[in-house]
Amino acid sequence: MRVFVAGASGAIGTSLVPQLVDRGHEVTGTSTSAEKAEHLRALGADPVVLDLLDRAAVRRVVLEAGPDAIVHQATALAELTFSRNFDRTFAKTNKLRTEGTDALLAAAREAGVDRFVAQSFASYRTAREGGPVKTEDDPLDPAPVATTRESNAAMRHLEEVVTDAGGIALRYGIFYGAANDGLIEPVRKRQYPIIGEGGGLVSFIHLDDAAAATVLALEHDGPAIYNIVNDEPAPVREWLPVLANVLGAKPPCHFPAGSRGWSRARPRS
Ligand SMILES: NC(=O)c1ccc[n+]([C@@H]2O[C@H](COP(=O)([O-])OP(=O)(O)OC[C@H]3O[C@@H](n4cnc5c(N)ncnc54)[C@H](OP(=O)(O)O)[C@@H]3O)[C@@H](O)[C@H]2O)c1
Repeated sequence: MRVFVAGASGAIGTSLVPQLVDRGHEVTGTSTSAEKAEHLRALGADPVVLDLLDRAAVRRVVLEAGPDAIVHQATALAELTFSRNFDRTFAKTNKLRTEGTDALLAAAREAGVDRFVAQSFASYRTAREGGPVKTEDDPLDPAPVATTRESNAAMRHLEEVVTDAGGIALRYGIFYGAANDGLIEPVRKRQYPIIGEGGGLVSFIHLDDAAAATVLALEHDGPAIYNIVNDEPAPVREWLPVLANVLGAKPPCHFPAGSRGWSRARPRS
């Protein structure tokens, strides 16, 4: 298959491109920078410089590439500074998930591409009811925390338009394995707290496994939504102290549930 990967130069894209090439696919991969695009050539892709928010450019490069399938892996999460306002932090990614997805789908329609796989996210999104392990059929949170509403709406939008078009949305767990893993510095600096009893479950996925699942998804018919996570969901109180320890950091801070302030008074090891 000829596969067009938007966001090929990112953490998952750079794992995905070689796996697609190994599987015998021809890959066109995008970056917003000419320098990173050249790196894509070394990985085996035909590089293209593209801003997914430039709808005319998206149309042009997709029609030029003439792919059989499109994979949307574009986010803007590198060098993020997390704040309490999640939506502000994720504003650009939200645009890539709404306007960017719409632009790619419009180009796909025009180019006659009927295979479309897009990146979504699994964690923190389901309704706060029922058991701790969630499937794709569990309802999404109808009332997300105020500062995450735009981000939740952007992921919903992506999933709706992709599946309406017959495509597949992959709800990845939290990635690990990236050289620029955004979790490392906050944990090192004790900025990632345990809230309450730390019972919130987190599902992770190694980037190579997420990429392997993406290759498989391309070989399946949609519409579908799949959770792409490992099989060891772990509560924050278990994995966070282990990660801090591995990084040589002090034990995580505790942040009382329902409180607005940090508590450094009761660190546990
Ligand atoms: N599920 C998860 O937990 C999850 C999901 C995504 C990312 N992350 C993490 O976030 C960190 C950063 O991710 P990342 O390294 O992949 O960086 P990123 O900044 O999220 O970039 C991802 C891809 O999107 C592309 N992109 C960014 N803006 C674009 C635009 N306007 N138009 C088209 N493409 C655009 C990037 O291209 P260029 O950079 O080449 O311009 C890159 O190819 C990593 O640690 C990663 O593991 C986690």
